[in-house]
Amino acid sequence: MKTNPPTSGGQPSWSQQHRLQLGLVIAGALAVVLVSCGTVNRAVLAPPQIAGATFAGTESCADCHKQIVRDFNSSTHARLKALGPNAKDIGCESCHGAGSLHNASGGARGTIINPRKAPETCFQCHTDKRGEFSLPHHHPVLEGKISCGDCHDPHKGAAVIGGGTNLKRENETCAKCHTAQFGPFVFEHEAMREGCTTCHQPHGSVNDKMLITRNAALCAKCHFEQRTASGVFIGGADHTSRLSRGTCWTSGCHEAVHGSQVSPANRY
Ligand code: HEC
Ligand code: HEC
Ligand code: HEC
Ligand code: HEC
Ligand code: HEC
Ligand code: HEC
Ligand code: HEC
Repeated sequence: MKTNPPTSGGQPSWSQQHRLQLGLVIAGALAVVLVSCGTVNRAVLAPPQIAGATFAGTESCADCHKQIVRDFNSSTHARLKALGPNAKDIGCESCHGAGSLHNASGGARGTIINPRKAPETCFQCHTDKRGEFSLPHHHPVLEGKISCGDCHDPHKGAAVIGGGTNLKRENETCAKCHTAQFGPFVFEHEAMREGCTTCHQPHGSVNDKMLITRNAALCAKCHFEQRTASGVFIGGADHTSRLSRGTCWTSGCHEAVHGSQVSPANRY
């Protein structure tokens, strides 16, 4: 077995010190490589942090972000505020990370986490959401093309915009980017009044177009299939031979699922 050569007086020699420094440089470079690999393949589960920063408390943010701090009391996440001498009040910092360096710098760039660019900060608590955005058909949040904040309001009111009580607003949230599906249509499909999420999974899905169901069952939720001796009837019309041709919307029948300008039967 090899042992290290003894050093004079227990102090490292000049060359050993230099080897030590070189070692630190290499270790540092390795850490950078590992961190950058982590951001590419997202293997790193730790939330993003600003090195060296400590928690400063929500009150400290009010000096410069007065409106956001005022609105925040109405938000879903305000209920998470941790009060007490040790936890201070880390409301804002539960998503933005420790803010002391940001405060001290007067708001300089790169001193605080913005979840628009770093959804990992949300996955700390919403662990299941990373998986949903990794399904085969998903909104490109992990790819950085859209943000949780495009559909959720982190600072004010209900985090699910419109959710439940106000479906019109929920649809309008989607319509910011998907105008064609929103209408208006000459022949509306009444299903749209139930909201886009009646048929789509907003985060991601195993099904094409992020649909909640891949087949006729999507439509059969509302359009009851009557199975009689003479065949399968939907909306009073005989669909016996039609259902074997494919889905209701891809077999040349009801392609205009969101509404139509020309046909009351959801055709183009
Ligand atoms: C001394 C003033 C000041 C304080 C205190 C302050 N900020 Fe800021 N903050 C700023 C300024 C200035 C900007 C840049 C604004 C801009 O460009 O629109 C900023 C930007 C930000 C951003 C966006 C950063 C980015 O990269 O997009 C976030 C998030 C933020 N602040 C959160 C906080 C939080 C949370 C606190 C409390 C812990 C806080 N700020 C306290 C001045 C401050
Ligand atoms: C639930 C997580 C969450 C909490 C809690 C939170 N924020 Fe944010 N914040 C976000 C997200 C998400 C964005 C990016 C929004 C987007 O995508 O445009 C953001 C953006 C910001 C910005 C950048 C400017 C802007 O409006 O886009 C500032 C400043 C900011 N937050 C301040 C605060 C302050 C101050 C608090 C506490 C009162 C706070 N935030 C609490 C999630 C949060
Ligand atoms: C510190 C943990 C934590 C972080 C970080 C966090 N959340 Fe939350 N979030 C929660 C909890 C807990 C609830 C449930 C609150 C309640 O209903 O009382 C919640 C609720 C929500 C809801 C509403 C759920 C519902 O059923 O109404 C949405 C949407 C949401 N969070 C999105 C986000 C987004 C987007 C981010 C990142 C910008 C984020 N959260 C960051 C803990 C967190
Ligand atoms: C394309 C719009 C969109 C984006 C982007 C989005 N969400 Fe959502 N999210 C929704 C909608 C719509 C609902 C309500 C679902 C419903 O009513 O069925 C929802 C529901 C939620 C809920 C509560 C219900 C649940 O599924 O647990 C949480 C938590 C949540 N989202 C977190 C997030 C986080 C975290 C991100 C970013 C990583 C994100 N969302 C990005 C649209 C979106
Ligand atoms: C900030 C913009 C934005 C918002 C808001 C938004 N989306 Fe999207 N959506 C996108 C982008 C970007 C894609 C990916 C398009 C692509 O890859 O070609 C997409 C894809 C989709 C797809 C799949 C399309 C396809 O051809 O496969 C569906 C379905 C969808 N969104 C529904 C919704 C619903 C429902 C909502 C509201 C809950 C919503 N979107 C909100 C930007 C948005
Ligand atoms: C009744 C169910 C249903 C509702 C409600 C619904 N969709 Fe769809 N959506 C579908 C189906 C089915 C497809 C697949 C169409 C195809 O493959 O041709 C689709 C496809 C899409 C696409 C992909 C592009 C396209 O048109 O094929 C987008 C984007 C989309 N929907 C957005 C929305 C938005 C936004 C809303 C709410 C305003 C909404 N959808 C409501 C069933 C629905
Ligand atoms: C949330 C419930 C709901 C869902 C899901 C739904 N619809 Fe509808 N649809 C309705 C209602 C309500 C009407 C209007 C009343 C009626 O004609 O039954 C309607 C009307 C129609 C009509 C016009 C019928 C006529 O002769 O005037 C067609 C075609 C149609 N839907 C096809 C579809 C297809 C295809 C799907 C699946 C992609 C679907 N619907 C999913 C609720 C729904």
